[in-house]
Amino acid sequence: MGSTFDILLAGGTVVNHAGMAVADIGIRDGRIAAIGDLDGSAAVEIIDCSHLHVLPGVIDTQVHFREPGGEAKEDLESGSRAAVLGGVTAVFEMPNTAPATTTAEAVAGKVARARGRMFCDFAFYVGATAQNAAMLGELERLEGVCGVKVFMGSSTGDLLVADDAALADVLAHIHRRAAFHSEDEERLRARKDLRAAGDVLSHPLWRDEEAAVASTRRLLHLAGKAGKRIHVLHVSTAGELPLLQAARDFASVEVTPHHLTLAAPECYERLGTLAQMNPPVRSARHRAALWEALNCGLVDVLGSDHAPHLLAEKGRAYPASPSGMPGVQTLVPVMLDHVNAGRLSLQRFVDLVCEGPHRLFQIAGKGRIAAGYDADFTIIDLKARRTIRNGWIASRCGWTPYDGMTVTGWPVGTMVRGRRVMWEDEIIGEACGAPMRFMETLEKTQ
Ligand code: DOR
Repeated sequence: MGSTFDILLAGGTVVNHAGMAVADIGIRDGRIAAIGDLDGSAAVEIIDCSHLHVLPGVIDTQVHFREPGGEAKEDLESGSRAAVLGGVTAVFEMPNTAPATTTAEAVAGKVARARGRMFCDFAFYVGATAQNAAMLGELERLEGVCGVKVFMGSSTGDLLVADDAALADVLAHIHRRAAFHSEDEERLRARKDLRAAGDVLSHPLWRDEEAAVASTRRLLHLAGKAGKRIHVLHVSTAGELPLLQAARDFASVEVTPHHLTLAAPECYERLGTLAQMNPPVRSARHRAALWEALNCGLVDVLGSDHAPHLLAEKGRAYPASPSGMPGVQTLVPVMLDHVNAGRLSLQRFVDLVCEGPHRLFQIAGKGRIAAGYDADFTIIDLKARRTIRNGWIASRCGWTPYDGMTVTGWPVGTMVRGRRVMWEDEIIGEACGAPMRFMETLEKTQ
């Protein structure tokens, strides 16, 4: 007589620390209780996973869900629906909401709004400003907080910490790894006139490679001097990569699926302002450099930078059009298509979106399929051929830059702490999302 489980995932190909092999997974009380040949065990529910791959729950470490203040574009509920439909079990949400997430009250407000409404687990970034710098050491330790986010160059919203003195002040007060949008504000201001009215092709000329390289060089210098850990978000240029490679002890690297998939000028000619993002999608030379960095292990995580804007807003003539595109729902299928095309292995994908977030941000109980960890799973059909359509998109913005793209590889099921939330493109579970716990601040959540 075997053990008794709440749920048994039977016969899937499990991708984890042990490699990739057929195994059963027994789930009890929302956690992984056993892995192996569990034939003969009793379970309240048995889910047949034969012909499917079972991955640790995919964690998207960069999304903008717009609540409060931008609910017409997205809110925490709609964004989380998009996440779980796309196989994402947990998200780190960005602070450039209105008001921005820069105080303890704003953090508590987001956590309260998220509970009972989000379908995936969550954590929120605290936005750094010159005014709250002295408070960041406390703010970064609040329940439901994944760390501090710094905008070194202006993007959507008004968060900005541009000069070296203010950046040094922020770095002096933080203890956890902090995330940076690295574009040089001074250079962006100086080159603003390069934006050509009605021509989004001028976007990457304005926000050029040097704007990113100069900013990242300054950031690495300041962080190295301060002895602090930093995470460089959405790295988009070939020029930043050797700098980051020389700073592995304290700097980690994110790239996005859009910088790995799209390239200028083709994406702007085909998609117009829908492809407008900060930092911009650049030429195929940069895209190739990012793939090379990914495959030599320099890239630590993938984040979607899900940044929804309404089609009406995107339809304004450049540069009045906002920067950003949705991505949380397409991260898994787009990247599985890259897996099937041989650009990265399935194990490396898991390293980037499960183990990478766990390692960098010290997330408690997530990122691995291992005994005692949360029973979060992204269950995929690696060979399913599907066409991504705007109609599938649950984000309130209702569009995706990948509309019409046929991919191989699709998320079939999403499980969050032992609950089946999505199965075969339908949300079937409750909004059971909870704040993620972090090893550096465990006393907040015990
Ligand atoms: O293109 C972008 N859009 N980049 C950012 O940094 C912010 C984001 C947004 O919130 O719209």
